[in-house]
Amino acid sequence: MVVIEAVSSNAGLADELHRHIGRFSDKQPDWDAFPSNRGYPDLARAQIRYVGAGGSPKVSDPSTLKAEHFTLSLVHLPAGHYAASHVHDVEEAFYVLKGVLTVASDYDGKIVKSRMGPRDMLLNEPGRPHGFLNDGVEPVLMAIMVANFKDKPVAIRYKCHPKDFGQEVARTFGGTEDTDRHDVDRWITRYSQAASRKDPAGLTRKTYIGNGGAPAGRFVKDLAHMPVGCKVDAFTRNAEEVFFVMSGCLTVGWEDEGALVEERLGPRDAVFNPAGRAHSLRNDGIEDVEFLWISGVSAA
Ligand SMILES: [Fe+2]
Repeated sequence: MVVIEAVSSNAGLADELHRHIGRFSDKQPDWDAFPSNRGYPDLARAQIRYVGAGGSPKVSDPSTLKAEHFTLSLVHLPAGHYAASHVHDVEEAFYVLKGVLTVASDYDGKIVKSRMGPRDMLLNEPGRPHGFLNDGVEPVLMAIMVANFKDKPVAIRYKCHPKDFGQEVARTFGGTEDTDRHDVDRWITRYSQAASRKDPAGLTRKTYIGNGGAPAGRFVKDLAHMPVGCKVDAFTRNAEEVFFVMSGCLTVGWEDEGALVEERLGPRDAVFNPAGRAHSLRNDGIEDVEFLWISGVSAA
């Protein structure tokens, strides 16, 4: 096992790695990320941006990393608050970290509701109108990934905003609740139900998007578990990867021309690994680490 003292120095590479990391403790929540919510207290939610701006128009925020195939942000939704029904042409994943999130998916005016607990995910398929609601007893914290094209803000069209329909109707998401689930379960991966598989490096993974999970578009996503002492030697991919730590401490190494630089990531820290950059992963912490492993899908 490589020890941290043996890491070769390369100041330029170390700086580059550092600039590709987003630390939870450095982030300021943005309660004004979605201008269309202004004046509607029940729509208030806070966004914490890591990669790109998600559904917010704030794509030039210098505190977030530049997106390629997907964005990554956290959203805090207080109990009782909701998001008005809207639609966009790209897929969007809701991955619950805390609380219970109710997602409303609109099938031609029939509203299908799905209650998602911690580590459950719903991928909103492109073009499917959706909203969400926190009707639980604690705030919801969720990670949101939106497919990205050329760092443009997502073009959001509201289907049932309170400014057009009033609060009471907007809370129904503009339709009639349906007990028929249509095909929404195809887009849901639940932590307790997803199969686990162990890879030769010693990681165990659950796939949420792609490879038996929800259908992949611009990105795929796994939850990975890495025991103490486990190491994945340096490898490269032809699309970007983001590692977002759920629990434990993950050491990420970047290698270039014989030099190795490393940084340790704690819970809710993330690193953006560009396409082609050789990188390694290891757990030299005191507990197992779990992290989201999100990868861009290159065009065929
Ligand atoms: Fe959305």
